[in-house]
Amino acid sequence: AAIGVPLPHESAELHVSGEARYTDDLPELAGTLHVALGLSRFAHARIVSVDLTAVRDAPGVVAVLTAADIPGENNCGPVLHDDPILADELVQYLGQPIFAVVATSYELARRAAALGKSDDVVRYEPLEPVLSIAQARARQHYVLQPQRLTRGSPAERIAAAPHRIDGEFAVGGQEQFYLEGQVAYAIPTERDGVHLYSSTQHPSEMQTLVAHMLGRPVHQIVCECRRMGGGFGGKESQSAVFACIAALACARLQRPVKLRADRDDDFLITGKRHDALYRYEAGYDDDGRILGLRVEIALRAGYSADLSGAVATRAVCHVDNAYFLSDVEIVALCCKTNTQSNTAFRGFGGPQGALVTEVIVDNIARALGRDPLDVRLANYYGIGARELTPYGQRVEDNVLAPLTARLLETSDYRARREAVAAFNASSPVLKRGIAFSPVKFGISFNVQFLNQAGALVHIYRDGSVLVNHGGTEMGQGVNTKVAQVVADVFGLPLSQVRVTSADTSKVANTSATAASTGSDLNGKAAEAAALTIRERLTQVAATTLGGQAEQVRFEHGSVIGEGGQIPFAQLVNAAYLARVQLWSDGFYATPKIHWDANTMTGRPFYYFAYGAAVSEVVVNTLTGESKLLRADLLHDVGRSINPAIDIGQIEGGFIQGVGWLTTEALWWNRDGRLMTHAPSTYKIPAISDTPAVFDVRLYRNENAEPTVFRSKAVGEPPLLLAFSVFLALRDALAGVAPDARHAPPLEAPATPEALLTALTKFVAST
Ligand code: MTE
Ligand code: MOS
Repeated sequence: AAIGVPLPHESAELHVSGEARYTDDLPELAGTLHVALGLSRFAHARIVSVDLTAVRDAPGVVAVLTAADIPGENNCGPVLHDDPILADELVQYLGQPIFAVVATSYELARRAAALGKSDDVVRYEPLEPVLSIAQARARQHYVLQPQRLTRGSPAERIAAAPHRIDGEFAVGGQEQFYLEGQVAYAIPTERDGVHLYSSTQHPSEMQTLVAHMLGRPVHQIVCECRRMGGGFGGKESQSAVFACIAALACARLQRPVKLRADRDDDFLITGKRHDALYRYEAGYDDDGRILGLRVEIALRAGYSADLSGAVATRAVCHVDNAYFLSDVEIVALCCKTNTQSNTAFRGFGGPQGALVTEVIVDNIARALGRDPLDVRLANYYGIGARELTPYGQRVEDNVLAPLTARLLETSDYRARREAVAAFNASSPVLKRGIAFSPVKFGISFNVQFLNQAGALVHIYRDGSVLVNHGGTEMGQGVNTKVAQVVADVFGLPLSQVRVTSADTSKVANTSATAASTGSDLNGKAAEAAALTIRERLTQVAATTLGGQAEQVRFEHGSVIGEGGQIPFAQLVNAAYLARVQLWSDGFYATPKIHWDANTMTGRPFYYFAYGAAVSEVVVNTLTGESKLLRADLLHDVGRSINPAIDIGQIEGGFIQGVGWLTTEALWWNRDGRLMTHAPSTYKIPAISDTPAVFDVRLYRNENAEPTVFRSKAVGEPPLLLAFSVFLALRDALAGVAPDARHAPPLEAPATPEALLTALTKFVAST
């Protein structure tokens, strides 16, 4: 009964009243100490000497820790072990932590750490930094081997095609800008243990890295996270440096230690969405159908591997987006630069893969003088041979054709395109643009073993239910959905089910809550646990009420059998007295998926999520200012577990994507210092950027695969709907010269500066 109901987020009232507890809100234990970090002042340098006397002597300082204080492994890298917790001998980006000041207050720790900026504290021998993707690419400076996926004979098909285009394109990176910054609070426990509270999407990884750093078995470390104030991928691996340093200080001093990064430090230390440079070449026919395509995606990995390999793989697997590419070559490069180590960010490389194709399709349409919509439709995946992705998975559950038809109708696309043209014909300064874009997004981790989850469900004698699962709550509503699933199994109102903190001592070896799989995986695991208990309760009910076990139903807080009915709580207590186990674990592993990383083929995704958007913008061609006027989004979440939460995810993902492609610009100066490191210089969308007309709807569908209640993941895919806004901006610029047979050379993000630059070039070339 709880499934499909637009219930509010389980913490909605706590969020708005300020009662929701985040890591920094935990009551501090007596004797709690605070950490501030001393950061590298060079992008690339050898550390010649470190003299921390002045820092140690500063007021309130209890200890200053360096790499030499780490008893175990000095690494917080998730895949390769190339991420020092504290830099030792070599610094590889400006902002890299070198030492940790532990003091009696946050303020005193920060003051002391600031003394580290003096030339006398850390002496450096500067080395030449590599600061741009182009520079790294030219030198073949990579953190990992290039990835290559080839199918058919793209070069031959391009050469033989009636038309061809080639070009370059660039998209910027993006700071996760979670509202709650990175924070960890470590408390010493008996026998050299640490209880770590961490704002993290990946408690098991924090637990493991801390154990390895301390040289202790994993069972001595507990990591707990009640909720995050946003993660967006930025707390999947990058919470680790903060968790490790807090735990290190805690273990050494045997005192509770908190590390809460200041926003500017958070920007300087942590990795972001990978920015990318592309080169492409395509051959196509008179309808704009792509016959051959070659794309190279050069990603800025930053100084270490972090999750860049998996990000690059997802980019490769999303170049097709909604389109059948018969003959294709895709190369992804993880370029090594002396900047922050880039990481997960909503979409995890998928957006970077799909965007370039949308731009190419747009360019093809303009070269042919066609509506880009029609060229998109001509390239859609079809049936039979046109079903096969470049990596060999069949697109079996495609709903894009009917979904598109529906959206074109509700958004009135064709008529509005004509209205936009009419408006532009009579408006010399303001130009409007409109664009449609589709999304097909693969769901599952590309790494097979990550697709597993566990849960633990307890029922207490009063009939109240407590659920623990391997996912983490970051605002996306995983706890609400999992509670709905369990409530539904027992036929209980949601108020009788509570989900607790993620806790590595309750469910072990969890995967990161990422790749949008949180509800899919943990919902199934919790459902399995609940079903196990329900099976036992069913037997008790049949005995107590009389009649057949098969006829017992759990509904509206009661258990109904052939011989009568009994309140749920009463049945539970009867089961307890009969010595029936009232708690259970549950486990789930996603079926059907496999992946061969060498050939880049397989079935990496259990299923696909689909969506489409139509956006309309207006650009002031004198100032470069732009505004999103209207957005119509239609998105497939399968059978929605919670339409209110799903709509919220679609709106949030879309607006976050709009920020990435329009206002959020990261800029490093020639020394490699990130100058956009606070909200004063880095512009995320505000409520006023929401379009006046914002029509967001769920596409009626059911997952073709037996996922939890046939729902689909929703966390990341809608971010790609923001492509429509970027394409609409290109369309608006094209409105300056509607007969030009080429596209305005607009790159992303389309800031006012970028819009004016593109406009100038475009006008000069027409
Ligand atoms: N929504 C909110 N409110 N806050 C977040 O941090 N992260 C996104 C998405 N939606 C995020 C969010 C990202 S990057 C992912 S992978 C998914 O939520 C993770 O949660 P899920 O797997 O439960 O969907
Ligand atoms: Mo999301 S980028 O997979 O944390």
